[in-house]
Amino acid sequence: MMTRILLITSSILGDSGQSIGLARHFQRLAKRRDDIAVTTRDVVADDLPHLGIDELGSWQVAADERTPAQVELAARSDALLEELRGNDVIVLAVPMYNLGIPSQLKAWFDRILRAGETFRYTEKGPVGLLEGKRAILLGARGGKYAGTAMDTQTPHITHMLGLIGIKQLDSVFAEGLNMGEDAKEAALTQAHSDIEDLVKAL
Ligand SMILES: Cc1cc2nc3c(=O)[nH]c(=O)nc-3n(C[C@H](O)[C@H](O)[C@H](O)COP(=O)(O)O)c2cc1C
Repeated sequence: MMTRILLITSSILGDSGQSIGLARHFQRLAKRRDDIAVTTRDVVADDLPHLGIDELGSWQVAADERTPAQVELAARSDALLEELRGNDVIVLAVPMYNLGIPSQLKAWFDRILRAGETFRYTEKGPVGLLEGKRAILLGARGGKYAGTAMDTQTPHITHMLGLIGIKQLDSVFAEGLNMGEDAKEAALTQAHSDIEDLVKAL
């Protein structure tokens, strides 16, 4: 059976981004497998704007009642949702910027965490509507945070994915990238090896 993977990159540093390097390593390994198909999306190149009231409002109008402007606004989120639904594994290559995720990646999440589409509100709280998907986080960080309270990225991403029904998240971190060449090399070597293990297990 074919495993369909959506590989999302979000570095503002383009080709020199370390998280892009992790994503490329993942992609190179996946390409050697004929049972894996990878679709890529670069949310920085997409230049998604912040979610605003007009776009949010467009989702709340029935598709056949939207104005031409609302059709155009809703199409952004609709296209991203279709892409998400069409894949089994979501791989997020995530730099840490100012203790959080890149704002472009947040703009992507803001368009796929959509009430009535990927989750619904119930008396017992929100319920995720996506089934059978898992996620992988490839994190690049200048400092070292994994396993500490300062790693606010992991719970944020875990709960955003959990909200829409994606409960399994495996993480690979390349940390300490700004803590000297030796630390950087060691972290990248370890992360590459961890990615190899993950791809083998797919
Ligand atoms: C604007 C900016 C903010 C950053 N903030 C943090 C931070 O809060 N904590 C950290 O450990 N590293 C921080 N860094 C370092 C990045 O995490 C590191 O460069 C990492 O490689 C970024 O991923 P990328 O190379 O894929 O863009 C920051 C880098 C930039 C450019």
